[in-house]
Amino acid sequence: MVALIDAHTQLFGIFGHPVRHSLSPILHNAAFRALGLNAVYLAFDVTDLPRAVQGVRALGISGLSITIPHKEAVMPLLDQVDFQALQIGAVNTIVNQEGRLLGYNTDCIGAQRALEEAFTNDQAHLAKANGAGPSSVLSGKSAVILGAGGSAKAVAFGLKSAGMSVHVANRTVEKAKALGEALGATFSSLNEVCDITADVLVNTTPVGMAPDIYKMPIASECLKNFSVVMDIVYAPLVTALLKEAEAAGCRTVNGLRMLLHQAVCQFELWTGLQAPLNVMESALLGQIK
Ligand code: ATR
Repeated sequence: MVALIDAHTQLFGIFGHPVRHSLSPILHNAAFRALGLNAVYLAFDVTDLPRAVQGVRALGISGLSITIPHKEAVMPLLDQVDFQALQIGAVNTIVNQEGRLLGYNTDCIGAQRALEEAFTNDQAHLAKANGAGPSSVLSGKSAVILGAGGSAKAVAFGLKSAGMSVHVANRTVEKAKALGEALGATFSSLNEVCDITADVLVNTTPVGMAPDIYKMPIASECLKNFSVVMDIVYAPLVTALLKEAEAAGCRTVNGLRMLLHQAVCQFELWTGLQAPLNVMESALLGQIK
């Protein structure tokens, strides 16, 4: 059943700059429609973040996604920030709980769920929506994360809290060291990755993103050291890294899985309902194609 927009419609949205490329409105509106919820999700191109957050309070906007460049700057403007978001140092989700603005980071559990899928198709194994936690599927496994920026931080905390051992490899080794030390993880420069064997490799660098679709963050000869290779780049959907990983016999996880799962977690935080994963997945694939 499709709800009409009326005087009871709840408003959700995304704050970012730029924001017009965002796939989040397609995803969340599809989910609201599928569950017959009287809610809409809009994209707001926000440059004055403090006033935009005042607007959330003044208008009673129910929930928000926060994207680049506001994920860090939004934190002091909120009433409470979840422990994991504090550790990561970034918020990508706001829940308006009766006037109190609560901040979360669903990128880390999004990464965790995306990776869990590679090890099992059993949805029952997926972690709960309200925070990343120990995962029976991932616990005890090892991961190498390429990159040490904002995305790497969220992925690394997600995998670490799932019980994985993590190694951070980055072009600028000082940044790998800072993240590695914050996490209790080992670290190295990117060109030392070939000496490491692990269950999982995750690329969080933009290498391979269109238009540079033939670029690889590490040499293809190293991919045999990993069972699962995940890329957070989703344009193109199958990056050069994933193509080479498939050729090397690895299982692969494309960048849409983390995008999808972080949105699923947001939806669940906002509504308290189980998100319609298949509907959101179809909406996302429809938009990408
Ligand atoms: P995001 O928030 O998307 O993670 P970011 O914080 O700017 O973006 O981080 C980008 C990461 O990709 C960094 O780890 C960066 O490495 P440096 O710390 O050495 O800058 C990495 N990166 C970007 N371009 C890269 C390239 N061409 N080769 C290897 N690593 C690259």
